[in-house]
Amino acid sequence: MRPIKILAIVGSLRKDSYNRQLALLAKEIVGDRAEFEILDYSDVPLLNQDIENPPPEPVRRVREAVKSADGIWFFTPEYNHFFPGVLKNLLDWLSLPVGKEAPAIVKKPAAISGTTIGMHATACAQDHLVTLISYLDMDVMNKPRLTIPYIQEQLDSEGRVTLSKSRRYLERQADAFLAFVRKRVGDAGHEA
Ligand SMILES: Cc1cc2nc3c(=O)[nH]c(=O)nc-3n(C[C@H](O)[C@H](O)[C@H](O)COP(=O)(O)O)c2cc1C
Repeated sequence: MRPIKILAIVGSLRKDSYNRQLALLAKEIVGDRAEFEILDYSDVPLLNQDIENPPPEPVRRVREAVKSADGIWFFTPEYNHFFPGVLKNLLDWLSLPVGKEAPAIVKKPAAISGTTIGMHATACAQDHLVTLISYLDMDVMNKPRLTIPYIQEQLDSEGRVTLSKSRRYLERQADAFLAFVRKRVGDAGHEA
């Protein structure tokens, strides 16, 4: 009997990233209903097949983190209507099989949220991300997805994300994703 584990992957390496703050708020909302960790992948190198085998230590670490998670929750900004290159680089590493083992992300339940300072609210970036992670055979929860525009309108005086207008949507997505993951974990014969 173990609690489910959610691994959050933030598509921004920025220290004060709004998307990272969104992930932290999601962690708070999830509370004791699941373990919730934000993946640190800032040290994962740019993929170069010359260094694919043996994989660099940071790559081993992120693979293990993904392998031990029951669900992956993406929080991504939008760069030029796409998701950021750092996230693509991470997913490329995670897409590689390890020996005869399938890549750790195959069949992993996935949810997507995102926020920007613009009006498109990461919708374009999320569509591109869904195309990629569907190709990688992740188990994507398409409804609900969360897109929050104009995040600068939901900050406190110190620039921290308050989510004063959008918190209920994050709560709904957290409820939906926990149910989605529990069903998958239950179907696989573990504790639901
Ligand atoms: C290279 C680049 C491209 C961007 N393109 C978009 C865009 O297409 N749409 C948008 O809404 N915001 C865009 N932005 C602004 C980001 O939404 C904003 O920087 C946001 O704060 C990034 O997320 P973060 O706070 O999690 O780092 C772009 C920012 C950068 C650096």
